[in-house]
Amino acid sequence: MKLIETNSYEELSQQAAWKIISLIKDNPKLNLGLATGSTPTGVYKKLIEDHQENKTTYKEINTFNLDEYIGIPKKDPNSYHYFMCENLFDHIDIPLEQTHIPDGTAKDLEEESKRYESFIQEHGGIDLQILGIGQNGHIGFNEPGTSFYSRTHIINLAESTRKANSRFFESLEDVPSQAITMGIASIMESKEILLLVSGTSKAEALARLINGDVNEQFPASILKNHQNVTIFADKDAIALL
Ligand code: GLP
Repeated sequence: MKLIETNSYEELSQQAAWKIISLIKDNPKLNLGLATGSTPTGVYKKLIEDHQENKTTYKEINTFNLDEYIGIPKKDPNSYHYFMCENLFDHIDIPLEQTHIPDGTAKDLEEESKRYESFIQEHGGIDLQILGIGQNGHIGFNEPGTSFYSRTHIINLAESTRKANSRFFESLEDVPSQAITMGIASIMESKEILLLVSGTSKAEALARLINGDVNEQFPASILKNHQNVTIFADKDAIALL
């Protein structure tokens, strides 16, 4: 894993965005894996600015999101569908039919998990995956204890994750207890991964990732076995290294 230390969240966002833009310029048909949460929103802002100023085009890009809550309709402001439209898709020239997010309202969720997994593979797999990290080391919504061999699946969210994400909801009770997420094996098949880590609340997780062993109790640790991972971290996140 390569670690890029930046002085601020702004710089982290800018540097990660430049990296994404340069890969899109190299391959205008890039399969881009996307993440939600607070961390990548700065990168998405930079991509939008660049699209407006420099006309980088997303017309041939396909995007694949990591995860979605179970039971939250697409039009609900708390769905990751809504989040992606608000924070990126509505502001660039990507055709919406080329944006793919697992359907957390599917009647048959097992079937939806299988469909999403094979759908990614039929599209040739993910070229570049953007990742955030949970305080407990989750990637996507793969909570501690998830098998490193997992494919897209349904997961029960850890109470700590529900609490951390309750800031987006009216109350903790409104946070879904389950999500559908790409598995760890699915994520590991991405050709390249950018992991974004920002803020003091992630400092412990980053230190554990860098200094700890590879262990299913800390899902992000598997990234140590990937050949092409770049971590973009800001000053606050590297505080414990
Ligand atoms: C969320 C998402 C993850 C994200 C993580 C961290 O629950 N499912 O993909 O990386 O938690 O989120 P944040 O960037 O808001 O700290």
